Amino acid sequence: MIKQIILAITITFLLPLAVNAAEDSRVMVELPGHMKAHMLQNMRNHLVIIDQLLALISEDKFDQAADIAESELGMSSLHKHGAAHMAQFYPKGMQQAGTNMHKSASQFARTAQEGDLLDTLKALQKITASCTVCHAGYRVH
Ligand code: HEC
Repeated sequence: MIKQIILAITITFLLPLAVNAAEDSRVMVELPGHMKAHMLQNMRNHLVIIDQLLALISEDKFDQAADIAESELGMSSLHKHGAAHMAQFYPKGMQQAGTNMHKSASQFARTAQEGDLLDTLKALQKITASCTVCHAGYRVH
């Protein structure tokens, strides 16, 4: 019994340390100050878009969800985000993660147009999965 309690306590205190250690292993990406601010602003906007997509899907507005996903996150949004300019500062893996995110958003747009709820949710999760992959690997501060 005591052994189990000690084990439980050890796990409780060591697990967060392990998680912190994992966070520290993210690759630090140095960006010029104005670009960092711009990139983080884009990021906050990405989250706003995800929120809007969920709202539109829940209101059965699949076409609008498709339009916003494509124009704000999809391949059509690359120019708007100054992607080509930004990408030169990104490590290769981060560029790839970004491309995956834009591709998943365009795929989401095509799927949402078909209007099937479950397929649309699955496609949305592909987008958020690509957000989390990049977040797990890289940081800018
Ligand atoms: C190509 C890599 C990449 C992709 C893809 C990506 N992010 Fe980020 N995001 C980052 C990095 C790097 C940071 C800064 C993290 C740090 O330094 O701690 C960040 C930060 C953020 C922040 C915090 C912004 C702030 O002001 O601090 C939010 C919110 C965010 N991302 C949302 C998203 C969402 C939502 C998606 C997907 C739709 C997404 N991101 C996709 C790399 C990415």
